[in-house]
Amino acid sequence: MAISEQKQSFQLHLQDLTNRNASFLETIYALANGHLGVRASNPLQGNLRLDEGMPGLFVNGFYDLSHITYGESYAGYPENNQTIAQLPDPRYLVIEVDGERSDQTTFATRVVDKNLDMETGLLNELFEITTPSGKILQLSLSTFASQADDGIYCVSYTIRPINFSGAVKLYKQHPYIDQVFTRDGDIRAVSRNNILDRQFLNADFPAMQITTQRSQLGLVLMWRYLGEDSLVKFDRSDGMPKYVMDLDLQQGLAESFDFGYSVGRIHSLMDVAMNHTQYLKNANAHLEHHSFSTLFTESAHKMQEFWHNSDIRIDGDPETQKGIRFNLFHLHQSAGHDGKTSIPAKGLTGAGYEGHYFWDTEMFMLPAFIYTDPQMARALLTYRYHTLDEARRQARDFGLDGGAMFAWRTINGMEASPYFPAGLAAVHINADIAYAVAEYVQVTDDQDFLVKMGFELILETARFWQRFGSFGIDGPQGGKFVINKVTGPDEYSAMVNNNYYTNRMAQHNLRLAVSYAKQLKKSHPSKLEELGVTEKELQSFTHIADSMYLPFDKELGVKMQDDGAFNMEIWPFDQTPRDNYPLLLHYHPMRLYRHQVNKQADTLMSDLLFPADQDIEQLKRDFDYYEPLTTHDSSLSRPIFSILAHRILAHHKAYRYIAESILTDLNNSQGNSQDGVHVGNMGASWMEMTLGVAGMIRADRGLEFHPHLPVQWSALTFKIRYRGSQFEMHITRNQAHFSLIEGDQVTIYCDGQEVALSSKAPVKRMMTVNLTEK
Ligand code: BGC
Repeated sequence: MAISEQKQSFQLHLQDLTNRNASFLETIYALANGHLGVRASNPLQGNLRLDEGMPGLFVNGFYDLSHITYGESYAGYPENNQTIAQLPDPRYLVIEVDGERSDQTTFATRVVDKNLDMETGLLNELFEITTPSGKILQLSLSTFASQADDGIYCVSYTIRPINFSGAVKLYKQHPYIDQVFTRDGDIRAVSRNNILDRQFLNADFPAMQITTQRSQLGLVLMWRYLGEDSLVKFDRSDGMPKYVMDLDLQQGLAESFDFGYSVGRIHSLMDVAMNHTQYLKNANAHLEHHSFSTLFTESAHKMQEFWHNSDIRIDGDPETQKGIRFNLFHLHQSAGHDGKTSIPAKGLTGAGYEGHYFWDTEMFMLPAFIYTDPQMARALLTYRYHTLDEARRQARDFGLDGGAMFAWRTINGMEASPYFPAGLAAVHINADIAYAVAEYVQVTDDQDFLVKMGFELILETARFWQRFGSFGIDGPQGGKFVINKVTGPDEYSAMVNNNYYTNRMAQHNLRLAVSYAKQLKKSHPSKLEELGVTEKELQSFTHIADSMYLPFDKELGVKMQDDGAFNMEIWPFDQTPRDNYPLLLHYHPMRLYRHQVNKQADTLMSDLLFPADQDIEQLKRDFDYYEPLTTHDSSLSRPIFSILAHRILAHHKAYRYIAESILTDLNNSQGNSQDGVHVGNMGASWMEMTLGVAGMIRADRGLEFHPHLPVQWSALTFKIRYRGSQFEMHITRNQAHFSLIEGDQVTIYCDGQEVALSSKAPVKRMMTVNLTEK
């Protein structure tokens, strides 16, 4: 592909999008850096309810609690919602012309253009603003969320009067603190009122501490002018610290002003109250000596590093190329890297799902990080480790005398789902975490993490299964180990017995505990002592794993989603109008639970994660059974079908799933992108490329590849880190090329051939494999 075409595919132009809904565009063009995220809203909106947008700044992990009111409150139900705070929009600007102010009367704002340069993370926007008396101004914004210092967000304004010359006043102030914009009628968009307090701090620029009332958290937020123009004055005369720009503008001539925001780390309310001067100093430290352009250069440099390691290049299919880059961009910018935060299901681009972390992180987002940015992967798993005590508490509250029971959806580690059938009952999250830990350790060989955190996570979750399941009475399960009343990945069934995925994952979890215990017994025996691991316990784990019941329908030769799954009626798909999807918005859950209908891949997730469990014939039978039952009402579903379609060599179908899922947010195909992007789906699109098209499988001997390029493409290129080495894989129609980029050596297997890449003589840095016909 020509260089200019490659550059183009890093640009997201407004013209690329057919949907012009304001809230949708706010999400798509949102900028973030793992700590903070800013929606790309109308800069004049602030907290005016214009019925068109939901502006705001989100800080990963900054949430408030609100009491959950239940009609019928049973024992053990969670008491509180946890809702990410929607803080003032740093893009906010007040314009005053002829005594008319944009915060008091509505100025018409028309979006003329938007362009996101994903290569550097710079967003350029142009708005046309008309005052109530007909004065027209052009306002352009350039913004970025720093990838070099995650406390920083910068905005540069350029203002130009179009049909007049005269006085224009601009104010950079945040007179309000909490913005809550709700969208009714969609359970995926719940948003509640947080109670935030604000106190302005003493400084020669505007600064405030923001604290939450119930969760007792606080942070410092400040902004400063990043230029020298004496027209920009700091003013706190009326008790509202702000910058004021009193301008005399000439028709057609532009003036520019740059501002830098710093959003400090989250502390306890008490800490912030006592140390705000110090926290303010920290927050300000980086801004003080910089300009917009030096800060941008630092950030763009980091972006470059990201693309160097994580880019996926597709030749021959510009739309998919742009789609995957957009997904990688958001995946990267959503990830908390401080070990205290994770990745909200909607990233930091919206309040959808209230800023909660789900299994999405471990099962759909983490793989990309494990193989391209292991440090980030470690930070995300560290977050889980920090919630382990909470998970232990939850297990005790549940009546288990050991182990850890992780929350299904949470920010602070406590369960935040008021609806337990699609919340706490999704206990597979425990095994998901263990699975992810082991994948991370296998791929990176990070023994330090294993010893300090990973083993404990695996052990405590194994202990959970030992207590949560039981040896059933002699029945169809023949005295095997059963796990009853759980909800698997498919949320259109709930509280089932022996969900195949859950049982298989629990079995794996138990086996992981045994094998890592054996390993640590040799290298770190004191760790086992510290955690109270006994031989008897390990024997019990092995016995349970060996006895795990995995439901299977012998007649159909298909893995059964759960004990009763195949006895139920099939959902009347032919009588379901197209507009009634997603079904969850139209049918009572009980109606769905009583039918064979899948929201997303469930048993097939197990086939995906354990490729050695079945031969291709078995996989085909499972795939053919579940595919017609699956609505893909969750954006996590199609990528899994795409990868498995590759494995059963249904290549056209695999490509169709890619084409449908890669543009989930750009096409708003789930209908709720206005509440935030679908980061799990974005992570899964990385999986589609590597596990799907490249056919990557992590086998015992190392990484295997079974590539098959879609006919629509001419090449696919990406990089992988594996055990300290980094290599690039370039797949064309008939060949796969491997080149070692970092590290001394790595051995991989491609279509059965061993590929030993080495930096030592004889030079074998690059190798080519002729692909077999598939
Ligand atoms: C899916 C879950 C997912 C959640 C958050 C739901 O629609 O069914 O699997 O964890 O969304 O993305």
